[in-house]
Amino acid sequence: MKAPLRVAVLGAGTVGAEVVRAILERPESLLAVDGAPIRLAGVAVRDVARAVARGIPETLLTDAPAHLVADPETDVVVELMGGDEPARTLIAAALAAGKGVVTANKHVLAHHGAVLEAIARGTGAALRFEAAVGGGIPVLGPLALDLAANRIEAVRGIVNGTTNLILSRMAGEGRSYADVLAEAQRAGFAEADPRDDVEGDDAANKLVVLARLAFGRWLDVHAIGRTPGRSARRGSAADEAAGRPGITGVTLEDVAAATARGFVLKLIAAAVRRGGDGMIDASVLPTAVAADAALARTNGVLNRIEIEASPLGTVAFAGPGAGGAATASAVLGDLIAIARGAGSTWAGLAPAADGRPMDPAAGVAGAGVAGAGVAGASVAGSVETFDAPSGTAYPVLR
Ligand SMILES: NC(=O)c1ccc[n+]([C@@H]2O[C@H](COP(=O)([O-])OP(=O)(O)OC[C@H]3O[C@@H](n4cnc5c(N)ncnc54)[C@H](OP(=O)(O)O)[C@@H]3O)[C@@H](O)[C@H]2O)c1
Repeated sequence: MKAPLRVAVLGAGTVGAEVVRAILERPESLLAVDGAPIRLAGVAVRDVARAVARGIPETLLTDAPAHLVADPETDVVVELMGGDEPARTLIAAALAAGKGVVTANKHVLAHHGAVLEAIARGTGAALRFEAAVGGGIPVLGPLALDLAANRIEAVRGIVNGTTNLILSRMAGEGRSYADVLAEAQRAGFAEADPRDDVEGDDAANKLVVLARLAFGRWLDVHAIGRTPGRSARRGSAADEAAGRPGITGVTLEDVAAATARGFVLKLIAAAVRRGGDGMIDASVLPTAVAADAALARTNGVLNRIEIEASPLGTVAFAGPGAGGAATASAVLGDLIAIARGAGSTWAGLAPAADGRPMDPAAGVAGAGVAGAGVAGASVAGSVETFDAPSGTAYPVLR
């Protein structure tokens, strides 16, 4: 049998606790016939007492993640702390030391992916991040590996469960945005500070990760448009809500008017290859989706990602996009892959274009004009809009 793979888990919250539990309680289910057994080297948290109360053995716990990463007894680091620092520095340190890294941290990947990729390629360490998009849905692996014989024309979909739950309840129960958001916060589906979700930042981070694998580039996340345009015939009551980012400007009246026109409003993240110049239109916008489309029928916290590939055609990936157990499934799948000797999530794809994020002016065409709302057209690949009562001109996706 191969020597065990010694794993340090950084963070034991919603996802980390599920990963730790699986490694401790069912290690045999994580053992591939051609892989190394997976063992826990340690678990880093801020509050050790709280982790002990959650059932994690005290002997495994530390509040010093950097020591755990540097420890020669650690072969692989699983980063599940979230946020920017210290996650970024810890991931970079592990990769620089040649240690494999598995992370669910879409923020770090979207903001520092190019640098981390360069470090990983430099040392030959594996960087795997299936859990960063779509939670438990396997979409990045297929995009990088199984679809490798195709040219990807577009990736688009619903990648944020919180906003999809809010929009689904507004449409299904006829309740206002504020009312549904407050309820989602009480039930733990939305954060106390929900801006990362409702303003579209989380979806934009995931779009950058998808686009890296689809188009071979790290897009500039700040250049991805999140604010829909305003219609020319807006009324006076309109301006309050129109022109706000993500779903924060979606009114109940807009939802009802969309229904009457045969649309469902959804927050759609889309990155589409533009004909001719090879540039990418990228946006995260509330979108009027034709009611008979599968994306329109994706409700609650479910996610759905559609990939247009040539010559294959369109394929779709749907399922639970968040939650501890679902996300741990993707993290553990990546760990098993490393235990079998697999490389990074980008598999055999070429290094990202010149290793730097793209200059928006040079590459993210739609996002560059997002402030004017024009990028919305890129969601649908057309200029059609649905002019709603609030004054928002939602891009249409048929
Ligand atoms: N939750 C989901 O459904 C989901 C889905 C997809 C992706 N993700 C991603 O998975 C990652 C983890 O999310 P989560 O929901 O599990 O987060 P969480 O519940 O907030 O847990 C975070 C964990 O990290 C620890 N931590 C945070 N900062 C630390 C520091 N400086 N030093 C040591 N430990 C630290 C926390 O320790 P204390 O408890 O002691 O503070 C806690 O154990 C994030 O990147 C998130 O975006 C989550």
